Amino acid sequence: MRGLMFNYLLEFIEEDFGYGVVDSVIGASGVGNDGSYADGGLYADEDLLSLMSAAASVLNISTNELQVLFGHRTFRPIYEKLITIYENNVYKQNKINSAFDFIVMLDTIHYKEVVKLYPESIFPYFTLLNRTETELEFMYCSKRNLPYLAKGLLMGCAEYFKERLLIEMKEQTNEEETYFIIKKALSGS
Ligand code: HEM
Repeated sequence: MRGLMFNYLLEFIEEDFGYGVVDSVIGASGVGNDGSYADGGLYADEDLLSLMSAAASVLNISTNELQVLFGHRTFRPIYEKLITIYENNVYKQNKINSAFDFIVMLDTIHYKEVVKLYPESIFPYFTLLNRTETELEFMYCSKRNLPYLAKGLLMGCAEYFKERLLIEMKEQTNEEETYFIIKKALSGS
């Protein structure tokens, strides 16, 4: 996984919980390089998983909860990176005005845009199954199987577009796929 993801994780922990916590997390995780990562560098997925599980145990929450928090906080910086880097990108050409507009573009965003900056990355797949005015159904698919991180990013996306969305997910039996259904919350609910 790219160093960028490691740096977002450590930044989120530092900003929300303080430097002392980051220090304890790096120490408890057993990762080799004192928590220093180059954004574009490639590092073992296992090290990110070790950092996330060390953070969960230091903060006394589950690893799934940690991934949701991490994703939620990371959407804004990751999105802002995307829109400042590309002047003429798919994002701008397609006039994305809502969370649904953005979410249906996730495959294109990863495989046509982010790949220019981070070639040879292994990205997740997002297969759109259905879209209506009020609901979006898609399948997240990745050998890394990080659906709770995806859920957190989707929550951050809803917040960014100032929308109230209910995000439901159902893990599939093959462990690489998670079905998501996102519903617009009815006003007053
Ligand atoms: C709602 C929005 C997004 C969701 C749900 C999402 C989901 C994910 C997930 C779950 C991963 C972990 C790897 C995996 O599952 O296999 C990932 C990786 C990644 N994503 Fe996204 N993503 C979103 C937006 C973005 C944006 C806007 C960028 C632009 C910078 C981006 C860039 C990346 C990069 C660089 C990786 C690491 C790939 C690697 O190191 O091999 N993502 N994404």
